[in-house]
Amino acid sequence: MLRGCTRRCPAFLAVTVVIILLSLREVIGWRPWPHNRTNAAHDLEFGGSKKYEGSSEFVHLKYHMGPVLTADITVHTIWYGVWERNQKKIIREFINSISAVNSKHPSVSGWWKTVQLYTDQTGANISRTVHLGAEKNDRFYSHGKSLTRLSMQSVIKSAVTAKTKPLPLNPQGGLYLLLTSSDVRVQDFCGQVCGFHYFTFPSIVGYTLPYAWVGNSAKMCPGVCAYPFAVPDYIPGLKPLKSPNGDIGVDGMVSVIAHEIAELATNPLVNAWYAGQDPSFPVEIADLCEGIYGTGGGGSYTGQLFNGADGATFNMNGIRRRFLVQWVWSHVVNYCTGPNALDQ
Ligand SMILES: *[C@@H]1O[C@H](CO)[C@@H](O)[C@H](O)[C@H]1NC(C)=O
Ligand SMILES: *[C@@H]1O[C@H](CO)[C@@H](O)[C@H](O)[C@H]1NC(C)=O
Repeated sequence: MLRGCTRRCPAFLAVTVVIILLSLREVIGWRPWPHNRTNAAHDLEFGGSKKYEGSSEFVHLKYHMGPVLTADITVHTIWYGVWERNQKKIIREFINSISAVNSKHPSVSGWWKTVQLYTDQTGANISRTVHLGAEKNDRFYSHGKSLTRLSMQSVIKSAVTAKTKPLPLNPQGGLYLLLTSSDVRVQDFCGQVCGFHYFTFPSIVGYTLPYAWVGNSAKMCPGVCAYPFAVPDYIPGLKPLKSPNGDIGVDGMVSVIAHEIAELATNPLVNAWYAGQDPSFPVEIADLCEGIYGTGGGGSYTGQLFNGADGATFNMNGIRRRFLVQWVWSHVVNYCTGPNALDQ
Protein backbone atom coordinates (compact mmCIF):
# COMPACT_ATOMS: atom_id res chain seq x y z
CA MET A 1 0.00 0.00 0.00
CA LEU A 2 1.61 3.25 -1.11
CA ARG A 3 -0.03 6.47 -0.05
CA GLY A 4 1.08 10.05 0.34
CA CYS A 5 2.11 11.08 3.81
CA THR A 6 -0.30 12.85 6.08
CA ARG A 7 0.52 14.23 9.48
CA ARG A 8 -0.19 10.85 11.02
CA CYS A 9 2.44 9.16 8.89
CA PRO A 10 5.25 8.65 11.40
CA ALA A 11 2.91 6.94 13.82
CA PHE A 12 1.48 4.84 11.05
CA LEU A 13 4.97 3.82 9.97
CA ALA A 14 5.99 2.93 13.49
CA VAL A 15 2.94 0.71 13.88
CA THR A 16 3.64 -0.95 10.56
CA VAL A 17 7.23 -1.64 11.53
CA VAL A 18 6.16 -3.16 14.83
CA ILE A 19 3.60 -5.36 13.07
CA ILE A 20 6.19 -6.54 10.55
CA LEU A 21 8.73 -7.29 13.27
CA LEU A 22 6.19 -9.18 15.33
CA SER A 23 5.08 -11.22 12.35
CA LEU A 24 8.62 -12.10 11.32
CA ARG A 25 9.51 -13.32 14.75
CA GLU A 26 6.80 -15.96 14.67
CA VAL A 27 7.85 -18.45 12.06
CA ILE A 28 6.70 -21.78 13.35
CA GLY A 29 3.67 -23.10 11.52
CA TRP A 30 0.16 -22.93 12.86
CA ARG A 31 -2.12 -25.65 14.17
CA PRO A 32 -4.98 -25.16 16.64
CA TRP A 33 -3.19 -26.91 19.54
CA PRO A 34 -5.18 -27.09 22.76
CA HIS A 35 -2.50 -25.14 24.66
CA ASN A 36 -2.73 -22.39 22.06
CA ARG A 37 -6.47 -21.97 22.40
CA THR A 38 -6.30 -18.36 23.57
CA ASN A 39 -3.93 -17.46 20.78
CA ALA A 40 -5.97 -19.37 18.21
CA ALA A 41 -9.23 -17.70 19.16
CA HIS A 42 -7.54 -14.30 19.25
CA ASP A 43 -5.88 -14.96 15.93
CA LEU A 44 -9.17 -15.84 14.26
CA GLU A 45 -11.01 -12.95 15.81
CA PHE A 46 -8.51 -10.50 14.43
CA GLY A 47 -8.52 -11.94 10.98
CA GLY A 48 -5.48 -14.15 11.00
CA SER A 49 -1.87 -13.42 11.75
CA LYS A 50 0.08 -11.11 9.51
CA LYS A 51 2.47 -13.87 8.62
CA TYR A 52 2.91 -14.24 4.92
CA GLU A 53 3.88 -17.76 3.83
CA GLY A 54 6.51 -18.06 6.51
CA SER A 55 9.17 -15.43 6.58
CA SER A 56 12.75 -15.20 5.61
CA GLU A 57 15.01 -12.94 7.60
CA PHE A 58 14.85 -14.73 10.90
CA VAL A 59 14.90 -18.30 9.69
CA HIS A 60 18.34 -19.80 9.85
CA LEU A 61 17.81 -23.17 8.31
CA LYS A 62 21.23 -24.77 8.28
CA TYR A 63 22.86 -27.90 7.00
CA HIS A 64 24.59 -29.80 9.78
CA MET A 65 26.68 -32.16 7.60
CA GLY A 66 24.64 -35.35 8.14
CA PRO A 67 23.21 -37.59 5.42
CA VAL A 68 19.95 -37.01 3.55
CA LEU A 69 17.96 -39.55 1.54
CA THR A 70 19.63 -39.39 -1.87
CA ALA A 71 18.95 -43.02 -2.85
CA ASP A 72 15.53 -44.03 -4.17
CA ILE A 73 13.15 -43.90 -1.22
CA THR A 74 11.04 -46.94 -0.42
CA VAL A 75 8.18 -46.42 2.03
CA HIS A 76 7.42 -49.47 4.17
CA THR A 77 4.09 -48.98 5.85
CA ILE A 78 3.07 -50.66 9.09
CA TRP A 79 -0.72 -50.52 9.51
CA TYR A 80 -1.17 -50.69 13.26
CA GLY A 81 -4.69 -51.53 14.40
CA VAL A 82 -7.80 -51.67 12.25
CA TRP A 83 -7.71 -50.04 8.80
CA GLU A 84 -10.37 -50.04 6.12
CA ARG A 85 -9.41 -50.86 2.56
CA ASN A 86 -10.41 -47.45 1.31
CA GLN A 87 -8.34 -45.71 3.97
CA LYS A 88 -5.27 -47.66 2.92
CA LYS A 89 -5.99 -46.83 -0.69
CA ILE A 90 -6.06 -43.06 -0.11
CA ILE A 91 -2.72 -43.16 1.68
CA ARG A 92 -1.07 -45.50 -0.85
CA GLU A 93 -2.22 -43.35 -3.74
CA PHE A 94 -0.87 -40.27 -2.04
CA ILE A 95 2.57 -41.88 -1.60
CA ASN A 96 2.53 -43.10 -5.20
CA SER A 97 1.66 -39.59 -6.32
CA ILE A 98 4.92 -38.16 -4.98
CA SER A 99 6.91 -39.26 -8.00
CA ALA A 100 4.09 -39.74 -10.48
CA VAL A 101 5.07 -38.26 -13.83
CA ASN A 102 1.78 -37.27 -15.38
CA SER A 103 -0.44 -35.79 -12.67
CA LYS A 104 -2.24 -32.60 -13.56
CA HIS A 105 -0.62 -29.37 -12.43
CA PRO A 106 -0.45 -28.36 -9.58
CA SER A 107 0.67 -31.81 -8.53
CA VAL A 108 2.03 -33.72 -5.56
CA SER A 109 5.18 -34.40 -7.62
CA GLY A 110 5.49 -30.63 -8.11
CA TRP A 111 5.34 -30.29 -4.33
CA TRP A 112 8.20 -32.80 -3.95
CA LYS A 113 10.41 -30.70 -6.26
CA THR A 114 11.03 -28.29 -3.36
CA VAL A 115 12.22 -31.21 -1.21
CA GLN A 116 14.55 -32.31 -4.03
CA LEU A 117 16.37 -28.97 -3.80
CA TYR A 118 18.11 -30.13 -0.63
CA THR A 119 21.51 -31.79 -0.92
CA ASP A 120 24.11 -33.48 1.27
CA GLN A 121 27.77 -32.43 1.57
CA THR A 122 28.66 -34.27 -1.64
CA GLY A 123 26.13 -32.15 -3.51
CA ALA A 124 23.77 -35.07 -4.11
CA ASN A 125 20.09 -34.07 -4.14
CA ILE A 126 17.22 -35.81 -2.34
CA SER A 127 15.90 -38.58 -4.54
CA ARG A 128 13.16 -37.83 -7.03
CA THR A 129 11.80 -41.33 -6.54
CA VAL A 130 9.53 -42.30 -3.68
CA HIS A 131 7.71 -45.59 -4.02
CA LEU A 132 5.69 -47.97 -1.93
CA GLY A 133 7.53 -50.98 -0.57
CA ALA A 134 6.37 -54.08 1.28
CA GLU A 135 3.74 -53.44 3.95
CA LYS A 136 2.93 -55.07 7.26
CA ASN A 137 -0.41 -55.36 9.02
CA ASP A 138 -0.36 -55.28 12.80
CA ARG A 139 -4.08 -55.87 13.14
CA PHE A 140 -4.07 -57.20 16.67
CA TYR A 141 -2.23 -54.32 18.32
CA SER A 142 0.98 -56.29 19.08
CA HIS A 143 2.07 -53.66 21.62
CA GLY A 144 -1.33 -52.61 22.94
CA LYS A 145 -3.56 -49.63 22.27
CA SER A 146 -1.27 -47.12 23.87
CA LEU A 147 2.18 -46.55 22.40
CA THR A 148 5.16 -44.52 23.52
CA ARG A 149 8.06 -43.30 21.43
CA LEU A 150 10.07 -46.26 22.68
CA SER A 151 7.43 -48.97 22.33
CA MET A 152 6.98 -47.80 18.74
CA GLN A 153 10.50 -49.00 18.06
CA SER A 154 9.47 -52.44 19.32
CA VAL A 155 6.54 -52.39 16.88
CA ILE A 156 9.04 -51.74 14.08
CA LYS A 157 11.30 -54.46 15.40
CA SER A 158 8.40 -56.93 15.33
CA ALA A 159 7.70 -55.95 11.73
CA VAL A 160 11.27 -56.41 10.50
CA THR A 161 11.82 -59.65 12.42
CA ALA A 162 8.40 -61.28 11.84
CA LYS A 163 8.52 -65.01 11.02
CA THR A 164 6.22 -64.56 8.05
CA LYS A 165 6.86 -61.84 5.50
CA PRO A 166 9.09 -59.57 7.60
CA LEU A 167 9.57 -56.05 6.26
CA PRO A 168 12.88 -55.86 4.40
CA LEU A 169 15.78 -54.09 6.11
CA ASN A 170 16.76 -51.16 4.00
CA PRO A 171 18.90 -48.67 5.92
CA GLN A 172 19.83 -46.81 2.71
CA GLY A 173 16.55 -45.72 1.13
CA GLY A 174 14.06 -47.36 3.47
CA LEU A 175 11.53 -45.18 5.25
CA TYR A 176 9.42 -46.99 7.82
CA LEU A 177 6.00 -45.43 8.17
CA LEU A 178 4.03 -46.49 11.24
CA LEU A 179 0.36 -45.54 11.00
CA THR A 180 -1.90 -46.01 14.01
CA SER A 181 -5.67 -46.39 13.73
CA SER A 182 -8.07 -43.96 15.38
CA ASP A 183 -8.39 -46.03 18.59
CA VAL A 184 -4.68 -46.03 19.42
CA ARG A 185 -3.26 -43.57 21.94
CA VAL A 186 0.25 -42.34 21.38
CA GLN A 187 2.52 -40.36 23.67
CA ASP A 188 1.99 -36.61 23.06
CA PHE A 189 -0.60 -37.30 20.31
CA CYS A 190 -3.20 -34.53 20.08
CA GLY A 191 -1.53 -32.38 22.74
CA GLN A 192 1.79 -31.69 21.08
CA VAL A 193 2.15 -33.81 17.97
CA CYS A 194 0.12 -35.29 15.10
CA GLY A 195 3.12 -37.22 13.84
CA PHE A 196 6.90 -37.24 14.14
CA HIS A 197 9.96 -38.84 12.64
CA TYR A 198 13.09 -40.25 14.19
CA PHE A 199 15.35 -43.28 13.78
CA THR A 200 15.45 -46.64 15.54
CA PHE A 201 18.16 -47.60 17.97
CA PRO A 202 20.41 -50.57 17.20
CA SER A 203 19.97 -51.65 20.84
CA ILE A 204 16.23 -52.10 20.31
CA VAL A 205 15.76 -52.91 16.63
CA GLY A 206 19.25 -54.06 15.68
CA TYR A 207 19.60 -51.31 13.06
CA THR A 208 19.38 -47.57 12.63
CA LEU A 209 16.29 -47.16 10.48
CA PRO A 210 14.64 -43.81 9.83
CA TYR A 211 10.96 -44.00 10.66
CA ALA A 212 7.92 -41.77 10.93
CA TRP A 213 4.73 -42.18 12.88
CA VAL A 214 1.38 -40.57 12.02
CA GLY A 215 -1.87 -41.23 13.86
CA ASN A 216 -5.46 -41.17 12.65
CA SER A 217 -6.96 -38.42 14.80
CA ALA A 218 -10.61 -39.00 13.75
CA LYS A 219 -11.77 -40.10 17.21
CA MET A 220 -9.41 -38.26 19.52
CA CYS A 221 -8.63 -34.82 18.10
CA PRO A 222 -9.72 -34.19 14.50
CA GLY A 223 -10.07 -30.45 15.24
CA VAL A 224 -6.34 -30.35 15.88
CA CYS A 225 -4.70 -32.98 13.68
CA ALA A 226 -7.25 -33.05 10.82
CA TYR A 227 -7.67 -29.27 10.76
CA PRO A 228 -9.09 -27.67 8.53
CA PHE A 229 -11.38 -30.65 7.76
CA ALA A 230 -12.48 -30.51 11.40
CA VAL A 231 -12.23 -27.57 13.76
CA PRO A 232 -11.63 -27.45 17.52
CA ASP A 233 -14.78 -26.88 19.55
CA TYR A 234 -13.17 -24.01 21.43
CA ILE A 235 -13.46 -21.88 18.28
CA PRO A 236 -17.21 -21.36 17.88
CA GLY A 237 -18.53 -20.40 14.46
CA LEU A 238 -15.58 -21.71 12.50
CA LYS A 239 -16.70 -24.05 9.71
CA PRO A 240 -14.70 -27.11 8.69
CA LEU A 241 -13.77 -27.54 5.03
CA LYS A 242 -14.98 -30.55 3.08
CA SER A 243 -12.19 -33.10 2.67
CA PRO A 244 -11.26 -34.29 -0.83
CA ASN A 245 -11.40 -38.07 -0.28
CA GLY A 246 -14.39 -38.34 2.03
CA ASP A 247 -12.46 -39.41 5.15
CA ILE A 248 -11.67 -36.55 7.52
CA GLY A 249 -9.16 -38.50 9.62
CA VAL A 250 -7.26 -39.91 6.64
CA ASP A 251 -7.42 -36.74 4.53
CA GLY A 252 -5.96 -34.97 7.56
CA MET A 253 -3.25 -37.62 7.88
CA VAL A 254 -2.13 -37.09 4.28
CA SER A 255 -0.72 -33.65 5.04
CA VAL A 256 0.98 -34.93 8.20
CA ILE A 257 2.45 -37.89 6.28
CA ALA A 258 3.73 -35.46 3.65
CA HIS A 259 5.19 -33.28 6.42
CA GLU A 260 7.03 -36.22 7.99
CA ILE A 261 8.31 -37.72 4.72
CA ALA A 262 9.69 -34.32 3.62
CA GLU A 263 11.45 -33.85 6.96
CA LEU A 264 12.69 -37.39 7.16
CA ALA A 265 14.20 -37.12 3.65
CA THR A 266 16.06 -33.91 4.53
CA ASN A 267 16.96 -34.80 8.12
CA PRO A 268 16.81 -38.59 8.57
CA LEU A 269 19.25 -38.84 11.47
CA VAL A 270 18.41 -35.38 12.83
CA ASN A 271 21.85 -34.05 11.90
CA ALA A 272 21.24 -32.59 8.44
CA TRP A 273 18.77 -29.79 7.59
CA TYR A 274 17.15 -27.93 10.47
CA ALA A 275 16.88 -24.52 12.07
CA GLY A 276 17.32 -23.66 15.74
CA GLN A 277 20.12 -24.35 18.16
CA ASP A 278 18.81 -27.47 19.80
CA PRO A 279 18.94 -30.78 17.91
CA SER A 280 16.42 -32.29 20.36
CA PHE A 281 13.88 -29.69 19.13
CA PRO A 282 14.89 -29.21 15.53
CA VAL A 283 12.74 -26.91 13.42
CA GLU A 284 12.64 -28.68 10.08
CA ILE A 285 11.56 -27.80 6.53
CA ALA A 286 7.90 -28.69 7.07
CA ASP A 287 7.62 -27.29 10.63
CA LEU A 288 8.36 -23.88 9.18
CA CYS A 289 5.28 -24.09 6.93
CA GLU A 290 2.73 -26.05 8.95
CA GLY A 291 -0.75 -24.71 8.28
CA ILE A 292 0.32 -23.01 5.02
CA TYR A 293 -1.28 -24.57 1.95
CA GLY A 294 -1.46 -21.73 -0.53
CA THR A 295 -0.53 -18.19 -1.45
CA GLY A 296 -1.08 -15.75 1.41
CA GLY A 297 -1.23 -18.53 4.01
CA GLY A 298 -0.18 -17.92 7.59
CA GLY A 299 -1.66 -18.11 11.07
CA SER A 300 -5.07 -19.72 10.91
CA TYR A 301 -5.47 -18.75 7.23
CA THR A 302 -4.65 -21.70 4.95
CA GLY A 303 -3.87 -19.55 1.93
CA GLN A 304 -5.63 -19.75 -1.44
CA LEU A 305 -7.00 -23.20 -2.18
CA PHE A 306 -9.17 -24.83 -4.82
CA ASN A 307 -12.74 -26.03 -4.52
CA GLY A 308 -13.84 -29.01 -6.56
CA ALA A 309 -17.27 -29.34 -8.16
CA ASP A 310 -18.15 -31.55 -5.17
CA GLY A 311 -17.37 -28.73 -2.76
CA ALA A 312 -14.22 -30.38 -1.44
CA THR A 313 -11.12 -28.33 -0.78
CA PHE A 314 -7.68 -29.30 -2.08
CA ASN A 315 -4.47 -27.72 -3.29
CA MET A 316 -2.82 -30.38 -5.45
CA ASN A 317 -3.52 -33.30 -7.75
CA GLY A 318 -2.23 -36.82 -7.43
CA ILE A 319 -3.00 -40.09 -9.11
CA ARG A 320 -6.79 -40.22 -9.54
CA ARG A 321 -7.25 -38.07 -6.44
CA ARG A 322 -6.86 -34.63 -4.98
CA PHE A 323 -5.12 -33.81 -1.75
CA LEU A 324 -4.61 -30.95 0.67
CA VAL A 325 -0.92 -30.89 1.53
CA GLN A 326 0.97 -28.24 3.45
CA TRP A 327 3.86 -26.43 1.78
CA VAL A 328 7.53 -26.84 2.66
CA TRP A 329 10.37 -24.39 3.13
CA SER A 330 12.65 -23.67 0.20
CA HIS A 331 16.16 -22.67 1.27
CA VAL A 332 16.72 -21.37 -2.26
CA VAL A 333 14.07 -18.63 -2.15
CA ASN A 334 13.82 -18.48 1.66
CA TYR A 335 10.10 -18.95 2.05
CA CYS A 336 7.43 -21.61 2.05
CA THR A 337 6.35 -22.72 -1.37
CA GLY A 338 4.21 -25.25 -3.18
CA PRO A 339 3.07 -26.17 -6.68
CA ASN A 340 -0.13 -24.09 -6.38
CA ALA A 341 1.73 -20.86 -5.59
CA LEU A 342 0.14 -18.05 -7.59
CA ASP A 343 3.33 -16.05 -7.96
CA GLN A 344 5.32 -18.66 -9.86
C1 LIG B 1 1.66 -21.86 21.13
O1 LIG B 1 2.02 -21.99 22.48
C2 LIG B 1 3.41 -22.02 22.72
C3 LIG B 1 3.66 -22.21 24.19
O2 LIG B 1 2.93 -23.24 24.69
C4 LIG B 1 4.04 -20.71 22.24
O3 LIG B 1 5.43 -20.77 22.40
C5 LIG B 1 3.71 -20.48 20.79
O4 LIG B 1 4.18 -19.22 20.39
C6 LIG B 1 2.21 -20.58 20.55
N1 LIG B 1 1.99 -20.48 19.12
C7 LIG B 1 0.99 -19.77 18.60
C8 LIG B 1 0.91 -19.76 17.11
O5 LIG B 1 0.18 -19.16 19.23
C1 LIG C 1 19.69 -30.03 -6.56
O1 LIG C 1 19.93 -29.01 -5.60
C2 LIG C 1 20.44 -27.80 -6.11
C3 LIG C 1 20.73 -26.91 -4.93
O2 LIG C 1 19.56 -26.61 -4.22
C4 LIG C 1 19.44 -27.20 -7.08
O3 LIG C 1 19.97 -26.01 -7.65
C5 LIG C 1 19.11 -28.21 -8.18
O4 LIG C 1 18.08 -27.68 -9.00
C6 LIG C 1 18.64 -29.51 -7.54
N1 LIG C 1 18.38 -30.52 -8.55
C7 LIG C 1 17.18 -31.09 -8.67
C8 LIG C 1 17.07 -32.14 -9.70
O5 LIG C 1 16.23 -30.77 -7.99
